[in-house]
Amino acid sequence: TQVLSVVSECAPLVKTGGLADVAGALPIALEQEGVRMRTLMPLYPQVKSRAEGARKVLSFDDLMGGPARVLAAKVEGLDLLLLDAPHLYDREGNIYLGPDGRDWPDNAERFAALGRAAAVIAAEGVNGWRPDVLHGHDWQAGLMTEYLYQMGLSDKVGTVMTIHNMAFHGLAPAEKIGTLGLDSERFTSEGYEFWGQIAALKAGLINADKLTTVSPTYAEELMTEHFGFGLDGVMRYRRDDLVGILNGIDDKAWDPKTDINIPPYKTPRGKKRAKAALQKEFGLPESNGPLCVVVSRLTEQKGLDLLLEAMPTLTARGGQLALLGSGDAGLEQAYRELANHENVGVRIGYDETLSHRLIAGGDAILVPSRFEPCGLTQLYGLRYGTIPCVALTGGLADTVINASPAALAAKVATGVQFSPITTEALRNAINRLCDLYQDAATWEKMQKNAMAQPVGWGPSAAKYAALYKDVLALK
Ligand code: ADP
Ligand code: GLC
Repeated sequence: TQVLSVVSECAPLVKTGGLADVAGALPIALEQEGVRMRTLMPLYPQVKSRAEGARKVLSFDDLMGGPARVLAAKVEGLDLLLLDAPHLYDREGNIYLGPDGRDWPDNAERFAALGRAAAVIAAEGVNGWRPDVLHGHDWQAGLMTEYLYQMGLSDKVGTVMTIHNMAFHGLAPAEKIGTLGLDSERFTSEGYEFWGQIAALKAGLINADKLTTVSPTYAEELMTEHFGFGLDGVMRYRRDDLVGILNGIDDKAWDPKTDINIPPYKTPRGKKRAKAALQKEFGLPESNGPLCVVVSRLTEQKGLDLLLEAMPTLTARGGQLALLGSGDAGLEQAYRELANHENVGVRIGYDETLSHRLIAGGDAILVPSRFEPCGLTQLYGLRYGTIPCVALTGGLADTVINASPAALAAKVATGVQFSPITTEALRNAINRLCDLYQDAATWEKMQKNAMAQPVGWGPSAAKYAALYKDVLALK
């Protein structure tokens, strides 16, 4: 099977969140399944420097307002098709946001171009290679399904759309229908229209042969009003074509036995050195409570405002917090202020190697998200024997085994979950976490369980491979 992954970010080239991790890992994991996946993504400046020797395989005289071409390159085991459209992508800084911190005003055109290029590659091929299936990720890829339809190829080329985050619809004003080259007759509530606007994600959700999201629980949640962000009706309508497939992690980069960023360890007891180093790095004293860590975007989704309110509970129990994150200016400021507390350390920014030292050195990792399609940091926590304390939602519900009395009796617990997602419930969870931490034998058993939990890509890659076959069988 030949698959073209269509995505706006891809690790290790350019990353703002877990989407990039998944886009970077899936092609490698699929090799074992006999699937050849190539990846179409924009040629941002930060990608250009890594793609030496790229060759031109396709060109456009005018793609959303300027000339463009597609370059083929191999980088770090990835087989890339890079969309070089300087008028759209040749900008420094964040790939989605301008210097003012707002979406680039032409984001609709920027990612419509990606979708258009994907459809043209499916139609014409590049150097004799043609994908059987287009696999698009999030709203940035949604319009590829519209262009494919316009070209009369929907019956020939398979399409899969994966929802990594339903909060972003890729909205654009209806006036852009012409600029984006969309079919105005399909601008209806059964089509890509959403409350009077163009919704790129909705186009993908309506048109794609199969839909996936990144955990089974989030797949269910998406069909509810609370989590569906207005598209829950579409999800219910498409429920027979929707499946939740859990993300894995890069288990080579995230392995406490070989991690070059930390004093490596094989057993929970070996964490002591990493913890002491982390306390030192963050200026935290020794303490008799758990050292909790957070590695996260600071946004509404992640529920870190709840943690701010629950912090007195943690410090009253002798617990500590070390946080690495960036995002919302208000949250950044609030955490900077919190760092005045002697048992709190905060780093505002993005730092890959520091994130390894935190995950390894923490006793527990906190993920109090309001919604979490999958979540990767709790998976890193499991692998490192760093007990996840998480909200009971999405992938956090599917990957952590709560230390309930039954799970403790059966000795299978790997973490602590709380519900509903409120400050009160988070406080209770922190108290439970501290109780468990004081019971050394139980805590060590949980750590061992966590470290033994499978968190790699194997089973999920097999599910994607089977899904592509199902899609092809429809053609
Ligand atoms: P999301 O994609 O919603 O941000 P995930 O948990 O799926 O959440 O993925 C986040 C990814 O980004 C993880 O690999 C995490 O380690 C990384 N990450 C988030 N914030 C930072 C940061 N400040 N520094 C380093 N890595 C970060
Ligand atoms: C999104 C979600 C996160 C998920 C990631 C990769 O950013 O917020 O939960 O792990 O995509 O699928």
